[in-house]
Amino acid sequence: MSSGVLVGGVEVGGRAWLAPMTGVSDLPGRRAAARLGAAYVATEMVACAELAKGRPDVVRRAAVGEGLPLMVVQLVGRDPDWIAQGARLAAEAGAQIIDFNMGCPAREVTGAACGSALMRDPELAERLIDAALSAGVPVTVKMRLGWDDASRNAPDMAARAERLGVSAVTVHGRTRCQFYKGQANWTQVGAVKAAVKIPVIVNGDIVDAAGARRALAESGADAVMIGRGAYGRPWIAREVDAALDDRIVAEPDLQERLGIALDHLAETIAFYGERIGLKIFRKHLGWYVEGAPAPVAAEARRAAKSTLCRLERAAEVEAALIAL
Ligand SMILES: Cc1cc2nc3c(=O)[nH]c(=O)nc-3n(C[C@H](O)[C@H](O)[C@H](O)COP(=O)(O)O)c2cc1C
Repeated sequence: MSSGVLVGGVEVGGRAWLAPMTGVSDLPGRRAAARLGAAYVATEMVACAELAKGRPDVVRRAAVGEGLPLMVVQLVGRDPDWIAQGARLAAEAGAQIIDFNMGCPAREVTGAACGSALMRDPELAERLIDAALSAGVPVTVKMRLGWDDASRNAPDMAARAERLGVSAVTVHGRTRCQFYKGQANWTQVGAVKAAVKIPVIVNGDIVDAAGARRALAESGADAVMIGRGAYGRPWIAREVDAALDDRIVAEPDLQERLGIALDHLAETIAFYGERIGLKIFRKHLGWYVEGAPAPVAAEARRAAKSTLCRLERAAEVEAALIAL
């Protein structure tokens, strides 16, 4: 693993981190990635008010489990009291880093003045960050370049966060109004790097080692964060991290991928139960099968995908995967 990044007092091994992704970075997903060498994988975003009220599905999102090298809980919300409570609960549950979400572009989130809507309200953002810091655990902030083209204020927001005591910032190189359109602008993440002394993590459209190198070179950031590039490839952090260190780690072969998918499936079923677990795992199944290397032919992949995603029992899915 490359030398890593110091976040507050916490040493995060490696320079390829995995992004928080709702529906993807649940505990089984984080464990799968951790087993394959990912040093940093954040939880899905956890709504503080619902966490504090004990809503079961939200509590499950913040679940701490064995086998994770680092427990990072991502919080989202707009009320300082709830954020403080959420941060305290996360810290009590074992969070070593609290990541605060100022990047989510979804309308149901920004409409509630959460996520990337906070890029438009620096004073509220500061109060919320302060509330997150009150738990005494290192806090990081994940943001976008700004709300829209006219307000690319990430450097200012990052400097404010740093002054409050935030330990690192991740910047997705798009504005909120871009959602996922166009190409992430890594050079503009460089303006954030220039504005602060704390570590900066560059995010957006990084899917391989070549992209990671370019993103680091264009932004000057300390590490990269990979989201969608990890779909069906929970080993990508190790692979990219090794490449940044001029080492080569081979991609898993078909047999290894099968083992990875089967373990991930078994953990998902154990975590959610068979019915919900299978429903949640279907997207991973599709990604694993799509990425299957030769000798599985494209046509067999397509056929397997549509069959696998209709099966109702975990044992049937396992058998079909093995037969692929
Ligand atoms: C399905 C999905 C779910 C996501 N959920 C979250 C989330 O819960 N919290 C968050 O901060 N970002 C979330 N994101 C944004 C990613 O963390 C990341 O910033 C974005 O996808 C850009 O990186 P990428 O191009 O490597 O995917 C999500 C993205 C996707 C595609």
